[in-house]
Amino acid sequence: YDNGLGKTPIMGWSGWNKYECKINEKIVFGNTDALVRHGLDQLGYNYVIVDDCWAAYKRDKQGNLKSHPTTFPSGMKALADYAHSKGLKFGLYSDAGRRTCIGHRAGSEDHEIRDAKTFASWGVDYLKYDNCFHKKHYYPHLRYPVMSEALNKSGRPIFYTICEWGEDHPALWAGKYANSWRTSLDVKDRWDRIQILADDNNMWAAYAGPGGWNDPDMLQVGNGRMSVAEYRSHFSIWSIMKAPLIIGCELRKIREEHLEIYKNKEIIDINQDPLGIQARKVSRQGRCKCREVWAGPLSGKRIVLALWNRDWRRVAIKVNWFDLGLEPGVSVRVRDLWKVLIRL
Ligand code: GLA
Repeated sequence: YDNGLGKTPIMGWSGWNKYECKINEKIVFGNTDALVRHGLDQLGYNYVIVDDCWAAYKRDKQGNLKSHPTTFPSGMKALADYAHSKGLKFGLYSDAGRRTCIGHRAGSEDHEIRDAKTFASWGVDYLKYDNCFHKKHYYPHLRYPVMSEALNKSGRPIFYTICEWGEDHPALWAGKYANSWRTSLDVKDRWDRIQILADDNNMWAAYAGPGGWNDPDMLQVGNGRMSVAEYRSHFSIWSIMKAPLIIGCELRKIREEHLEIYKNKEIIDINQDPLGIQARKVSRQGRCKCREVWAGPLSGKRIVLALWNRDWRRVAIKVNWFDLGLEPGVSVRVRDLWKVLIRL
């Protein structure tokens, strides 16, 4: 999709995974500060995103969206201004139906042009657009382009991401209208869910590229229910799949071992590689078929390779030159980006 945005997957922070609907402006301001304090903005995490539950239950008297008066009393423009003052960008959420997915906040259906203008006037740089409570038989591939066009005409470049995956496989059509699209269920801070999302997202690898990316949902690193090894795998696989890298935890009191994962510059660089090719699962080994090799090309004659052991124990995983697309006999240099594994 060519609106000039998303040449590489976007990076940033969103409150949804941690706070869900218990979000307010104090949390957003605080996490914006923490993002900068930890130097994450310098590594590319530059979108601060407010997901569902920022909007009031009803529109104002003129029919415009407005923020919830108790939880976001300063209004969304104040948050955007604050992000901009720190050199960051600001993202918001709405829905392609009457109400947002939480069930009781106003959605944008039949108000697309008005809402796109409102977002632009607030200084919004990103819109996540969900798929709940729409009219019957009014399919996503018909509704989503309406907001795409409205954003295009809003006078402000706005990264547009489609939060839909079940009804109408967006990978098949969204590349014409959006900068990214979801490919599966909502993420959870659970290892089994991470695996499902990775496998679902892998199916659509051929559709991703600069300007339009598959989105297996936001990162759970730091939310506390997975081990450091699991969080590292989650971050690595998201990175090589060219997923948006959206931090989903509380940044004001993040633990050092989790921050280190988000700050792994070499893994971030893989995600942001200008070639923009999504790595794929290229082999499954063992009786369980759960000892996996994932690989993909990078710029500068490089390849990213992940050995993903989804078994319950320590195992050996073999990599064939053939699986990497290398000629027999070619010699390579190998670097371990977590610096924990390789003994060659
Ligand atoms: C859906 C989306 C989530 C989140 C919630 C908000 O479930 O998939 O990412 O935006 O809605 O209600």
